[in-house]
Amino acid sequence: MTDRTPDTGTPTTTAGTTKTAGTAGTERELNAERLLRVSAKHSHDPLTEIDWDAPLDPDQFAIPPHRVSLYGTPLWETMTHRQRARLSVHELASTISAGIWFELILMEGLVRHVYESDLTTKHAQYALTEVADECRHSTMFARYLTKTGYPSARPTRRAQRLGRLHFLINDTTMTFAGAIFVEEFTDALQREMVRDESLQPLARSVARIHVIEEARHIGYAKPELERRWARLSAPRRALFRQALGLLAQQSVAEVIHPRVYALAGLDPRAARQAAAENPHWQQTKADWARKAVQFFTELGIIDPRSEYRWRRAALLPAARRTR
Ligand SMILES: [Fe+2]
Ligand SMILES: [Fe+2]
Repeated sequence: MTDRTPDTGTPTTTAGTTKTAGTAGTERELNAERLLRVSAKHSHDPLTEIDWDAPLDPDQFAIPPHRVSLYGTPLWETMTHRQRARLSVHELASTISAGIWFELILMEGLVRHVYESDLTTKHAQYALTEVADECRHSTMFARYLTKTGYPSARPTRRAQRLGRLHFLINDTTMTFAGAIFVEEFTDALQREMVRDESLQPLARSVARIHVIEEARHIGYAKPELERRWARLSAPRRALFRQALGLLAQQSVAEVIHPRVYALAGLDPRAARQAAAENPHWQQTKADWARKAVQFFTELGIIDPRSEYRWRRAALLPAARRTR
């Protein structure tokens, strides 16, 4: 485990070692320094590194077929191969559109974090480096939407309202926790895409760049959340548990916009219902959320008081108990 020392300088014991706020600060700086070094070596410009002019094969899936929300349902059986492939492309586009929504919120949170920090620290400098990464990602994602004919990068009205609420509340700890959830979730999907050579090359190129750069973001957010969580009072922890569960629930709900079904020539209402009841789709969400759920459980953010929210969002198996 990383450091849990409050900023007061009081020594505490974590995982068998006694640390002070001084060493905590050093570890935080060393981590940021390492991340800055890796960023300098492995940053990508998707606008020049991806072949955006290559034609798309309408019969090629963008995500593995068994990860499409309707896979295995009676409705799926009625669809042609091309229709399924188109749905997979639009489901990726919809996920990417939700990704843009979240990245904008994250960037805003990171800029505020820097505003409250000292920019001569590596920690603050890395935060700005991450903002630069996310700027490129959001532009890359928007390009993918345009290329695949997805109609809009606007989130749903509900998500739009939630984003504004987040701007108002401006909770940096929640920004880091939200980043871990969303980044682990998309990372799991995109790693599957990178591994599967049968998928659309454009989608795989986008996924590859995102996977490389997001690994650093997760490495930045996790120790920061641990540090901040250790300093929260019991009442704030109680509130945080509920708020993060809600955020995860809403983020996952945003992943598949109902318009993807209409774009694939399906009845959106019937398709949405079929997806909601689809055990394959529920398993997919739980699989993609697994690493984040494990991390939050280890920290005690997901516990018997908050796990119902995660279960309701199909991010935790019904039978699972955290304690
Ligand atoms: Fe990103
Ligand atoms: Fe990120």
